[in-house]
Amino acid sequence: MNKAKHIAIIMDGNGRWAELKDKKRVKGHEAGAKVVKEITTFCSQSKDIERLTLYAFSTENWKRPRLEVEFLMKLLESYLRNELPVYLKNNVRFEPIGDTRAFSKSLQKTIKDVQEKTSHCDGLVQSLALNYGAQDEILRAVNKIKDCEDFITEAMLSNALDCKHNVDLLIRTGGDHRLSNFLLWQAAYAELFFTDTLWPDFTTDDLQKIIKDFTKIERRFGGLK
Ligand code: IPE
Ligand code: IPE
Ligand code: MG
Repeated sequence: MNKAKHIAIIMDGNGRWAELKDKKRVKGHEAGAKVVKEITTFCSQSKDIERLTLYAFSTENWKRPRLEVEFLMKLLESYLRNELPVYLKNNVRFEPIGDTRAFSKSLQKTIKDVQEKTSHCDGLVQSLALNYGAQDEILRAVNKIKDCEDFITEAMLSNALDCKHNVDLLIRTGGDHRLSNFLLWQAAYAELFFTDTLWPDFTTDDLQKIIKDFTKIERRFGGLK
């Protein structure tokens, strides 16, 4: 039976969830942050899940209205501050991926602080993808190693990426069937699950059902049965 050691989620549908309820889009982001907490706690209690990588803000999301971007930055900062004791209680290590240099100094400090304070935790690793784009990640990795190496191997490139771990199970909520520049390298052999459920409505039961279906898939990795 397959084990979903590394689960990655494209948490999509916050805005539509709010609009369906005649609320402002940002209310959807607030509701989405609560689900991040629930799903992370659930994964931290599973013996099989080692990593949970969540797409929180893409390199393309800067195109959104300024007020929405500002709200997301504030929400991220307050989420991380509030979550620190929860990470510690659940033995969760926080490891951001993405180019966080684009964020305010204060947000960068909060991110670093939570990362450092949870660095001893050896349970689940929760990665939030923050100003993350897979193309940007791959380019940064190549530029990091190109002057030191004449010939770049798969292992070298993989080690230079923000996320060095292949994904087993990749889930996208919100009904669209695309990767939106998420973990393009690491998802090379991931099993892909798409659900119409909007992220604020996604529950631990939904995740459990997907994991159950995942465990039954025959993963061949290009070989034969
Ligand atoms: C995902 O939800 C959260 C972020 C991209 C920050 P959206 O905000 O994309 O919600 P929809 O897709 O517009 O409903
Ligand atoms: C992907 O969702 C990014 C995150 C969930 C953070 P988007 O809503 O930004 O993606 P597109 O625009 O539908 O591809
Ligand atoms: Mg969206």
